[in-house]
Amino acid sequence: MEAVNKRELIVSKIKNGTVIDHIPAGRALAVLRILKITEGYRIALVMNVESKKMGKKDIVKIENKEVDEKEANLITLIAPTATINIIRDYEVVEKKKLKVPEVVKGLLKCTNLTCITNNDIEAVSEFRKISEKPLKMKCVYCDTVIDENEILKQILGSKS
Ligand code: CTP
Ligand code: ZN
Repeated sequence: MEAVNKRELIVSKIKNGTVIDHIPAGRALAVLRILKITEGYRIALVMNVESKKMGKKDIVKIENKEVDEKEANLITLIAPTATINIIRDYEVVEKKKLKVPEVVKGLLKCTNLTCITNNDIEAVSEFRKISEKPLKMKCVYCDTVIDENEILKQILGSKS
């Protein structure tokens, strides 16, 4: 149970939806960005709370949305430690196993400025996983490889 002190939850349990727990501290908003969640959903953010395993962590709770496999796997790009809990009628009914995605379309930017994806406004970037530890993804159009730092920089923005 996430708690400030052991007695009290910061935000209440949810009835239906998804709880993304064990997010590295400071990355909760980037997780929402990956899920393209902007408006409409009821969301609870818990940031910088103590965790036995991680020191500090963030938690994201999204009501009435069950994160699917593809969305869950994208989260590993910035939060490989995250756990994804599907909640139905207050119970955790599934803990999703996360895998680094084989293919990522549209989310990442090729660092090669002459790459077609940076020069044709209709082109959609596409990267394939070539290594998981350390994380490396390769542009399918020009073979440029981007590493974990570059991926973090792109998704987290200026903040590392
Ligand atoms: N949770 C929630 N609403 C519910 C049920 C669970 O917000 N109706 C949250 C819990 O507070 C916790 C996460 O979902 O942050 C996972 O719940 P649970 O599996 O019960 O907790 P733990 O056993 O601590 O999880 P873990 O497997 O990550 O150790
Ligand atoms: Zn490229």
